[in-house]
Order: sequence, then structure tokens, then C-alpha cells
Amino acid sequence: MPATRHKTASRSRPLHKVVRRHTLDRVLSKAGFGSRTDARSWIGAGRVTVNGKKVQSPDAWVDPAEDNVRLDGKPITARKKVYLLLYKPKGYLTTHRDPEGRPTVYDLLEGIDAWVVPVGRLDQDTTGLLVLTNDTELGDHLTSPKSKVRKTYLVKASQRLDEDQLNTLRAGMELSDGPTRRAEVTRIRDSEKYTFFEITITEGRNRQVRRMVEALGAKVLKLVRTRIGPIAIGDLEIGKYRLLTSEEVRGLAS
Ligand code: URA
Repeated sequence: MPATRHKTASRSRPLHKVVRRHTLDRVLSKAGFGSRTDARSWIGAGRVTVNGKKVQSPDAWVDPAEDNVRLDGKPITARKKVYLLLYKPKGYLTTHRDPEGRPTVYDLLEGIDAWVVPVGRLDQDTTGLLVLTNDTELGDHLTSPKSKVRKTYLVKASQRLDEDQLNTLRAGMELSDGPTRRAEVTRIRDSEKYTFFEITITEGRNRQVRRMVEALGAKVLKLVRTRIGPIAIGDLEIGKYRLLTSEEVRGLAS
């Protein structure tokens, strides 16, 4: 039987390192082996052991920090960590499979055999930087609102925005899911019909930038994420990915 002890966090541990018990399918998926559906089929097929015993219930509770979980005899902690930076093009979904058959970011990851997952989502029509990794601890850290990771976007608004409107974005505004934090906003230029601006936010709520602009009475015509934390888009080509350097990974984790 899997261990039933529940570990409590020591005070010196950062919050994102607290380990709790999870179901076996989730632990395998979070360890970067595959989706939960994949994990459930491996468990059902008897390929998974916990503390030396075959466990065929995907809902068994395990503590990955305490229990020795193996897939095909190999410990799941031995998985190599992979960190990618993808320049997501327009039209690609940030999901694994789309029932409607639309392209997903996984279609762009040729040559990567690790089970990486996107850190946060970009809308189908948003382009720009997307981090994908099998390091769930880092992923949780980056997506937690508490971490306040800075994300910078270039925005083309559907109309010219005046300074009061940009100040509203800067000050924090009421959205249906609560007030936004303060944002950094820089006007880049105005054309006859549009305003182009840069915005940096420290949250990652669903469609946040689009909803902020909509709350001003305008729409987002183009949205590009150009930075995540210390990582910039650089000369990465659209639709391509590269591995993050260990220095970049350290920068994201801090
Ligand atoms: N904000 C949005 O509105 N969409 C994104 O894809 C990312 C941030």
C-alpha cells in the first residue's frame, strides 16, 4: 500500500516546494511522463509500482517525496528536466489535443520526446513566447499569482487610446474576476486609427489583456508576448523553439 503519511512543510521551504499526496495518475503525469489519460492506461496495464508493489488503481494516493513510484521498473524522479521556449504563431491552441482538429503548440515540438506542458496559456490568436517544461515545480511557481512573474505584451488596439485610458490600465481596473494589479504601460505610437502600446502585467488571468482593453471600450487586434520574467523573444523565429539555458532557467526560478 502507498504511504499514508502527510508531509507538512518545513518553515524554511519555499511555498511552491510543498509536497502533498496526489493520485497516482496525477503524480505520473506531473513527473513529465505523459497525460493523465496515458498514465491511467499504464497503471491499468500493471506497469506501475509503488514501494515495490504493483498498483492498478489510478486513484491510489501517493506522496512523490516519500513513495518510490516506478514506471516499467524505472523511478519516476529520474526523468530529465526539459525547458523550452516556443515562439507561438497565431492560430495554434495551447492545448494537447483539440477535438476539432485545429493545430496545437505540440505540432511545433518535433524532436522533443519529453512530456512538456505549457506554462500558462496564450489565446489562439495571441503570438509570442511560451515556456514549456516537464518541471512542474517551476511551472507551478511561474503560474502562481503570488510569484508575480512579469509578462510583457505588445498590443495593437482597435482605436486610438487617450492618456486617461492608458492610466486606467496602469492603475488596475475592475474585471469580472476582480481588480487587476497595477500594470506598466508604455505608448509606442499612434497611427491614424490605432494605438500600439506595451503592457507588463504580473498576473496571468484568462484573456486578461484582451479583457482589460475591452473594458476601455476597445478591442485587441494584435497581441504578442515579448517577455516572460528575464527572458525576451530575441531572434527566435516564429513557430520555432529553443532550449532554455541553465542561466535562463535559474532566472525564471528566482
Ligand atoms: N492576455 C490575453 O488576453 N491573452 C493572452 O493570450 C495572454 C494574455
